[in-house]
Amino acid sequence: MTSYSRITGTGSYLPPRRVTNADLAAELATRGIETSDEWIVERTGIRARHFAAPGAKTSDLGVHAARRALESAGKQATQVDLIIVATTTPDMVFPSTAAIVQHKLGIAGCPVFDVQAVCSGFIYALTVADAMIRTGTARCALVIGAEIFSRILDFNDRTTCVLFGDGAGAVVLEASTAPGLLASDLHADGKYLDILCVPGHVAGGQVTGSPLVRMDGQAVFKLAVRVLGECAHAVLAKAGREGDDIDWLIPHQANIRIMESTARKLKLPPEKLVVTVHEHGNTSAASVPLAMDTAVRAGQVKRGDTVLLEGVGGGFTWGAVLLDF
Ligand code: ACO
Repeated sequence: MTSYSRITGTGSYLPPRRVTNADLAAELATRGIETSDEWIVERTGIRARHFAAPGAKTSDLGVHAARRALESAGKQATQVDLIIVATTTPDMVFPSTAAIVQHKLGIAGCPVFDVQAVCSGFIYALTVADAMIRTGTARCALVIGAEIFSRILDFNDRTTCVLFGDGAGAVVLEASTAPGLLASDLHADGKYLDILCVPGHVAGGQVTGSPLVRMDGQAVFKLAVRVLGECAHAVLAKAGREGDDIDWLIPHQANIRIMESTARKLKLPPEKLVVTVHEHGNTSAASVPLAMDTAVRAGQVKRGDTVLLEGVGGGFTWGAVLLDF
């Protein structure tokens, strides 16, 4: 009998347009907004991000990442029996981006849905897919994080627009007699909704309120450092493992200072921290699978390694998944 789920393939995709801090600073200067490569690197670790072309859709990025994950797992799209897309920037209000991805992959029939947990979305989606596989509801799931976050950025607000980028990452999660995913730890607290949100909504054919990201950076920073430390220890305890067992920490890629603080709390040396924030910026729900695929393809994360994935984002939501790759 199947008791576990296991990642059998990873894939990712970045839109071709790479925007360095200097490029962005020059663009913002035309609006009378001052920023610099030095400020962005020192406060966040970000050096560049990718922005999608105007006509691109979140589902397009997700499909590219999904095809690469399927190829690395040696699977055909027709073998997929569940698709979950974690996104905050869906193609449409409805149907789900997962339904659009399914159609673009040329398949039909299997259950598909989106998960909205902002930057924790992939951790939530992976946990749901794992539960569905362990209960026999699915055997071969595509779990995707995909975002075109640049569409909801306020390019007149230098405190937020320099932080984010676009991209997608995906994994194929399959039923397995051996682990696989070892444990998961998810949390949320809606009282923090104001510190990180896009407050607008659609009503009467119009957007009411701002459709752009609003963030209290310092409040987010403090909360993120605390909860990422807590859920790392919680997921290790659930799995009966120690910090020493971790080969790789792949946290949400938002800010190098938050990531390094989490590694320090786990007493992990900096070499065990997977870092892509310098090249990707914060890609929200895409950041963890994008970083994971980058590390797998770079030969860092290898079969059998123990990997700690962590997410934190709007909601406030946070969580961790511990797995043997
Ligand atoms: N360029 C130049 N100066 C800037 C910029 C900028 N892009 N942005 C802000 N400043 C200025 C501010 O105006 C302020 O100036 P002042 O002192 O004259 O008022 C100064 O820099 C310091 O601003 P702070 O907000 O205190 O800077 P801080 O060190 O807190 O860094 C940052 C800001 C990078 C946003 C930090 O708070 C942070 O990373 N927070 C966490 C954000 C995060 O991780 N968000 C995502 C997590 S969840 C998710 O991914 C959705």
